[in-house]
Amino acid sequence: MCGIVGYIGKQPAVPVLMDGLEKLSYRGYDSAGIAVMEEHHHINVRKAKGKLENLRSLLVKSPVAGCMGIGHTRWATHGEPNDLNAHPHTDVQGGIAVVHNGIIENHEALRRYLTAQGAVFVSQTDTEVIAHLLKYLYCGDMKETLLKALPMLEGSYALGVICDAESDALYCARNDSPLVVAWEDGNGYLASDIPALLAHTRDVIFLEDKQIARLDANGIAVCDAYGNPCYHEPFHVEWDLDCAEKGGYAHYMLKEIHEQPEALQKTYAPRRPHLPGEYRWLPVSLSEAQSLRKISIVACGSAYHAGVVGKYAIERLARLPVEVDIASEYRYRDPVIGPQELFVAISQSGETADTLAALREAKRRGARVLVICNVVGSTMTREAGESNTLYTYAGPEIAVASTKAYMTQTEMMLMLAIALGDLRGTLSRSRVEELLKGLEQLPVLAEKTLQAEEMLQRFASLASQKKHVFFVGRGMDYALSMEAALKLKEVSYIFSEAYAAGELKHGPIALLKPGRLVVATITQSGLLEKTLSNLREVTARGASVLAICRESLAQKLEGIAQQIIAIPDTDDWLAPLLAVIPLQLFAYSMAVVRGCDVDKPRNLAKSVTVE
Ligand code: AGP
Repeated sequence: MCGIVGYIGKQPAVPVLMDGLEKLSYRGYDSAGIAVMEEHHHINVRKAKGKLENLRSLLVKSPVAGCMGIGHTRWATHGEPNDLNAHPHTDVQGGIAVVHNGIIENHEALRRYLTAQGAVFVSQTDTEVIAHLLKYLYCGDMKETLLKALPMLEGSYALGVICDAESDALYCARNDSPLVVAWEDGNGYLASDIPALLAHTRDVIFLEDKQIARLDANGIAVCDAYGNPCYHEPFHVEWDLDCAEKGGYAHYMLKEIHEQPEALQKTYAPRRPHLPGEYRWLPVSLSEAQSLRKISIVACGSAYHAGVVGKYAIERLARLPVEVDIASEYRYRDPVIGPQELFVAISQSGETADTLAALREAKRRGARVLVICNVVGSTMTREAGESNTLYTYAGPEIAVASTKAYMTQTEMMLMLAIALGDLRGTLSRSRVEELLKGLEQLPVLAEKTLQAEEMLQRFASLASQKKHVFFVGRGMDYALSMEAALKLKEVSYIFSEAYAAGELKHGPIALLKPGRLVVATITQSGLLEKTLSNLREVTARGASVLAICRESLAQKLEGIAQQIIAIPDTDDWLAPLLAVIPLQLFAYSMAVVRGCDVDKPRNLAKSVTVE
């Protein structure tokens, strides 16, 4: 996700801003920029696509000087990575500069309104509306202006703001996106995260939602959404820098597992229907949805596993045939696909060579294409076209083993199934509302599911020497087991295999013996009895069972499973998005106990750009 920094004080701002941006680079970014208040109250902006080195080179060629400024590393969500879309963004006259982390969901409406008031937009970003809005409302006091402007923004923001009419003050505000401020020896700092401040101070203040802060030579003044002063006791940071970059988590993988509730919320919120049956985010018209004959989903690894979940959901909810292919197989099997079929490529990076090649093959054969991707402006999104791209808003995924990206890919699969089911009339209005309500509640239920972490750590400490683990389930739980098996393989190097629970008796059960571990996922209420009988076959051979099941089904597992991890009850079709969390935590815990390199497993790359 994006990173913001700000400084006001007695030192040159550029080194402080650039060092702060370096410390936030772990968050992943695709462009960067700074705005500095020079003398005579003039704001100078420098920004560049790509890595911070590009911005540093620009600053050597075209230096700026001043003791106050803001900076930004951008993880693109609206508008591809380029110099124009990089932050900071300013109003037309360049008198107000803004950096932003978050998503302004009503940016299109604001853009239309402000354009009608004479604003001239130069970027494709949602953020630029903030600069023009502040200019439009500016009343000589930026705090008062922010108090008027922020309630007009829908969505998440951590903002840094400088204004040429107030060259002695630095402003910031937050809603949903984290923001930390500090003041030490006449110097004021703001940042998205602690690492950017540790070089200057260990005593920081975490702003709360809807709060605004003004930093100047005298200190920090915080107020709430009504302008009332707020006091925060500074928090003393004990972390070292490496730990702080992971937000206090031991590994990026664990941090990203815990970021899943936020990723779910950020991926769903901008797509919440405002009117029944309205799916503005879906680049498929009503007539196309009703005339579709088949959907082909193609991907690799975890993205492929999200596609398998999508098959079950789309076929059941939208009554559409779905084929799911591993990308490296798809392009060489002379696939049958044509104009009345939808080809969906799923990819976190948007750069996976096998998936990209399959996408090109489908386009060549005349299919309608759709890309589900986590990286704005990546090759696949550019080749499919932004209008045929559905972004997951999981934020940058640093750990090689995919967790939050897989989660949001699966969420997109379910949103696609619900939207197509609604448009094709295979879902009743009440059923659509029920499913959408379930999606709305998922972030809270996911947060609750994360509480299973300690239980899984304990279980992993006992199971860590297992040589071979089976993951079993039926229906969507089988699809989920595929992802669970990959996770354990990837990070703990244990041989793991996913099997349809009903298939065990056709051979694999020969491998079961006392000491074997079978991890069973049971979330589909209609398949419970069948799965229970499969698990009794498993325990009859002496194998032990770790069961991941819904709270309402847990009692049925008593006497069968050695360990039961219950997840909150939700709709059958949404339960896999919760069940995957304990499975991810299980794989993570096993890898930690076995001393594996969790974030960078041997032989693996985060994005496989070769065939
Ligand atoms: C998942 O944990 C792996 N890192 C890997 O299987 C990954 O899902 C696969 O390489 C696809 O990557 P993509 O989503 O970027 O296309």
